[in-house]
Amino acid sequence: LSQENQDILSAHEWLAKLYHHLLRYTKDGKEGYGYLQDRGVKDESIDAFQLGFAPNVKDFTAEFLKKKGFHQQLLVKAGLINLREDGQISDRFRGRIIFPIRNHLGKTVAFGGRATIGDSKPKYINSPESELFHKGKLLYNFDLAKKHIRKKNEAILFEGQMDIIAAYQAGIRNVIATLGTALTEYQAKLLKRYVNTVILCYDGDRAGLDAAYKAAVLLRQSGCEVKIAHLENNIDPDSFIQTYGGDAFEKEVIKASDTFMSFYMRFLKKDFNLNHEGDRINYIEKVLKQLAMIDSPIEREYYVKELSKEYGISIDTLTNEISGYREKFG
Ligand code: UTP
Ligand code: MN
Ligand code: MN
Ligand code: MN
Ligand code: MN
Repeated sequence: LSQENQDILSAHEWLAKLYHHLLRYTKDGKEGYGYLQDRGVKDESIDAFQLGFAPNVKDFTAEFLKKKGFHQQLLVKAGLINLREDGQISDRFRGRIIFPIRNHLGKTVAFGGRATIGDSKPKYINSPESELFHKGKLLYNFDLAKKHIRKKNEAILFEGQMDIIAAYQAGIRNVIATLGTALTEYQAKLLKRYVNTVILCYDGDRAGLDAAYKAAVLLRQSGCEVKIAHLENNIDPDSFIQTYGGDAFEKEVIKASDTFMSFYMRFLKKDFNLNHEGDRINYIEKVLKQLAMIDSPIEREYYVKELSKEYGISIDTLTNEISGYREKFG
């Protein structure tokens, strides 16, 4: 590691400690502490994830780190302070809950900051990409989750930090998150080195559904077995756990997660109006094409029977169609 990167790590470590201390023990952090309490985040989780609060003061961070001997230029490069064209500086994170983002070695390489006021935009801001922080290469909480993921041979993948914290509070530890961005091939390959099965548990909204589909495809390409959890439209894992509890989450969401094929059928339905004959036929054709890629005859037959029952098409017709696709695509 270059001297500069070592210094950047050290600045992050100082700051994470400071923000955490402010949140946990001081009046300056009350806004953040109250916010987390209202959302059901316990002190133990605040400590486990070293959550903090950055006060809404223009140069609080800059001043603190300068006193610790860090150069302004380094802090700008680290993305901790912004330098305007007129030479003025301002902290990047102000009036936000701070989530330290650790790499696989447990070193804080970036921060995520959440607004404490419901509808202020953007809701989250993150540190910029750097030599130490590539969003597409890092999985949030991987350092703590790794050993649990290995032990269970199963990982649960969420969208965000609050989902991780809710799961943690429910005693579920094999959890990681992509921090809102699309899963990358790099992350899929990384996961494959640790685990056989990945349970995708993205938000129940359209964005979550689309992201889950893309992630599922990548994970399957990397050789993982994928299951996809099913959440209703306006629910995410955090809100589910807060509303129904951790046991319900394990039983009704994680254990009940769909195979890729059932997920795909549900996913596709969104694009079709199955009350229309034409749409219905297109839908069935698409499902059959996907089914043709499944190598296990038992699995194929299982879904063929389901389709046959649901749409009143004979098993023979469906099977013939699949055979045709299998010959065409090899
Ligand atoms: P969500 O919009 O689902 O947020 O984005 P959330 O995790 O449920 O957060 P809460 O419950 O509203 O606090 C998923 C993830 O995408 C990233 C964050 O990491 C977030 O956890 N994100 C979201 C951003 O980076 N920027 C944003 O403006 C929004
Ligand atoms: Mn979301
Ligand atoms: Mn389902
Ligand atoms: Mn969410
Ligand atoms: Mn949420």
